[in-house]
Amino acid sequence: MMLNLKRRPDTKDVISLLRRIRYPGYDADIVSLGVVEEVSLPEPNSVAISLRHGGTSDERINRVVDEIKTLCAKTLKVSKVEVAIHRLEPELGERTGQVALEGVRHVIAVASGKGGVGKSTVAANLAVALRRLNYEVGLLDADIYGPSVPMMFGLTQARLKAGQDSRLRAVEQHGVSLMSIGFFLTERAPVIWRGPLVMSAVRQFLKDTIWGEKDFLIVDLPPGTGDAQLTLAQQVCLDGAIVVTTPQDVALLDARRALRMLKQVHCPILGVVENMSYFVCPECGAVDELFGHGGGERMAQSENLKLLARLPIYSEIRETGDQGTPIAALLPDHPAAQAFLQLARDVAQQVLEVGELSNKP
Ligand SMILES: Nc1ncnc2c1ncn2[C@@H]1O[C@H](COP(=O)(O)OP(=O)(O)OP(=O)(O)O)[C@@H](O)[C@H]1O
Ligand SMILES: [Mg+2]
Repeated sequence: MMLNLKRRPDTKDVISLLRRIRYPGYDADIVSLGVVEEVSLPEPNSVAISLRHGGTSDERINRVVDEIKTLCAKTLKVSKVEVAIHRLEPELGERTGQVALEGVRHVIAVASGKGGVGKSTVAANLAVALRRLNYEVGLLDADIYGPSVPMMFGLTQARLKAGQDSRLRAVEQHGVSLMSIGFFLTERAPVIWRGPLVMSAVRQFLKDTIWGEKDFLIVDLPPGTGDAQLTLAQQVCLDGAIVVTTPQDVALLDARRALRMLKQVHCPILGVVENMSYFVCPECGAVDELFGHGGGERMAQSENLKLLARLPIYSEIRETGDQGTPIAALLPDHPAAQAFLQLARDVAQQVLEVGELSNKP
């Protein structure tokens, strides 16, 4: 589409043009996301654009630069388009802007490449199961776009406000200390946050929450492997991550992407959880592997990782989650609860072993 201008373009024209460019991996344009920092017309025939860039990989931002140049060349009658990249430095800490979490000994992320594979379910039940093993546990719902901790812990009515000292107090439920952006939203308020704001919200949760003394903090990462996840993974010193996948090929492909991202930030990977692996008919006990067989196992093998668990589909997992008490808390004898307990033992053992080794003077 041409900009039908009789006059020379001004900055507003350029900005509205830039609104046509989507930031790769996001459903929003580069202006709304705050990627465009400044637009100017230093000379009548030239446009200068500055972009904010906070990620570690330049792939996306380079794509944006190319798109800007192509679009401007096609649409604006100017002879020169200069695009500068303003690299955002991490605000805190020496090492990639990491946030120190007071009182928290080990941080474990639960990641997935694809949405809807059961990441939050695994995170919530792992947290509860670790608590059942007598560890002190926190759970951070870092899924800004689709927070699910409030629902899974029966706290959809809970609302928090930042106190005077701007510190946030974690909410206690089922023995676990919780923090979620869901606690700050009104019932229907949509979460339309700008990219950089999302980052600072998560950062604030990390920095300003009073967790108390915790053996483990489980972080439910947002789905996907975009800049949001990467930035988050860089902000906290992760002691380990679990990747959740379902056995379908598409999910496995995305899970591999998540693994690559975690490796990029040097996060030790504790293993893979294959969720919704199969369905056991409650009447006849027949096993139906509706999403194929052995996908998670093959991936774990080829990536040299441990397959930590294979969880079947149990209607009780969904029901308990929807009703506000994770199955690991509500039905401790259910095979799914037992499986989460085993997962918790395994995770704790791996993390504590590594921690002890690296803590040795
Ligand atoms: N093993 C299972 N058996 C039955 N239902 C399950 C199982 N695992 C997850 N679910 C259900 O599937 C739905 C999606 O799970 P969940 O919200 O944990 O996924 P997610 O990966 O966190 O999704 P999102 O990408 O939306 O954050 C939920 O309703 C949950 O209760
Ligand atoms: Mg989730």
